[in-house]
Amino acid sequence: MKTAKELLEFAARQGIHHLESQPGRHPFPGPSAIEQLDRLSFPLPDTPTAPEEVIRLLDEAGSPAAVGNTGGRYFGFVIGGSLPVTVAANWLAGAWDQNAGLKVTSPLAAKIEEVAAAWLLEVLRLPGEAGVGFVTGATMANFCGLAAARHTLLKRKGWNVEARGLYGAPEVKVVVGAEAHVSPLKALSMLGFGSERVMRVPINSEGEILPDQLPPLDDMTIVCLQAGNVNSGAIDPLEEICRMARARGAWVHIDGAFGLWGAASPQLAEQLTGHGLADSWATDLHKWLNVPYDSGIVICRDPQGLRAAMSINAAYIPPQEEREPYAFTPEMSRRARGIEAWAALYALGKSGVAELVENSCRHARHFARKLKRAGFEVLNEVNINQVLVSFGSDELTRRVIRELQKEGTCWCGSTTWHGRHVMRISVSSWATTTEDVEACAEAMIRVAKQEKSFKLVGC
Ligand SMILES: Cc1ncc(COP(=O)(O)O)c(C=O)c1O
Repeated sequence: MKTAKELLEFAARQGIHHLESQPGRHPFPGPSAIEQLDRLSFPLPDTPTAPEEVIRLLDEAGSPAAVGNTGGRYFGFVIGGSLPVTVAANWLAGAWDQNAGLKVTSPLAAKIEEVAAAWLLEVLRLPGEAGVGFVTGATMANFCGLAAARHTLLKRKGWNVEARGLYGAPEVKVVVGAEAHVSPLKALSMLGFGSERVMRVPINSEGEILPDQLPPLDDMTIVCLQAGNVNSGAIDPLEEICRMARARGAWVHIDGAFGLWGAASPQLAEQLTGHGLADSWATDLHKWLNVPYDSGIVICRDPQGLRAAMSINAAYIPPQEEREPYAFTPEMSRRARGIEAWAALYALGKSGVAELVENSCRHARHFARKLKRAGFEVLNEVNINQVLVSFGSDELTRRVIRELQKEGTCWCGSTTWHGRHVMRISVSSWATTTEDVEACAEAMIRVAKQEKSFKLVGC
């Protein structure tokens, strides 16, 4: 293996082998695979190593230790798989090595992101004239959307926050639901709003904001809503709150890391009614669109607000007559994330995106039905792709999760819901099939019954 071509072919072969070996494989690496990671850790060599040795070791020690979220039986956190066409696009894009920051550094990346942005707005049913920035994920997207909000609200009072910071600035009130994800809270703290200073609004049992509990809103208020609670999947009453906020000049930001994709499905769209009335949105592409990590987008109704919050000026940067990608993101140099989004959307078409989302939801309902029928408790209304299960006491549920993770048919994590320890099933991968759900639900039930009987005999 002497040439670059042979090296790349070897890496591709091993990557394909890894993907092909996923079905039937334990979705989480075993202790010996984790131990083998030590093979990657040694003093930095003084002299060069042959590239084929580098890739060989990376594959030998790394591939067995990769978490199997590309297979159909990984239901941990909210983690999507990767559609094969997006992996292929990612490999080609890796060969291109484009700097997507400027049109002049990559006309290719700029063009493809422009197209992908328009397609994303169409499929998510958002205003076609909105500004879109391609970022690492929902956390950066929340950061950017809330930065645009901060810019716009303070500008209304004649305050240039990019130039003057928040010292002595007019006060901005920030309102979030009591069940808001930590991601927008982190974004708010990075923006100087303070994650503890925000006002938290009471919620219902599914985690949705109660509109009548909102504090008075005005034109210096940011209301941060959620489409897709990370545990229950619940979606805030978007239309009612957006209309209230609009009437009072408040800014609405929607954290729709995965739930926003419901808008792409005729079956789910009703749950998101009014989502298009907000001012900014954050969503992940690496979750439900199933593109490789890392990938998300910020969307801002007024592109100027986002541009003003993100823009910089330097003598060597061309003037912005047209869309310059860097003007919509915190980064200057970055990889061309829009490429995989473009590939996914082209390959799936509108109906394929809807089907991907609807299949996940159908699988989630299937899980819930089977588990309920077996006598276990499903704690949430399975409105989208999330299922919260209790197998009995917290202690028993903890043991079932641990044993299921060891048993290896599938992988689910835990969370806390209404003070209870529960198992969370998040169906977010294109690769999950009905057969996977059948096999995984049976494994869950088998392990749970086993653990329950151990308990009964006092083991
Ligand atoms: C509602 C919500 N917001 C934000 C995030 C953070 O997304 P990311 O890890 O891609 O930044 C998540 C992740 O699960 C989420 O569920």
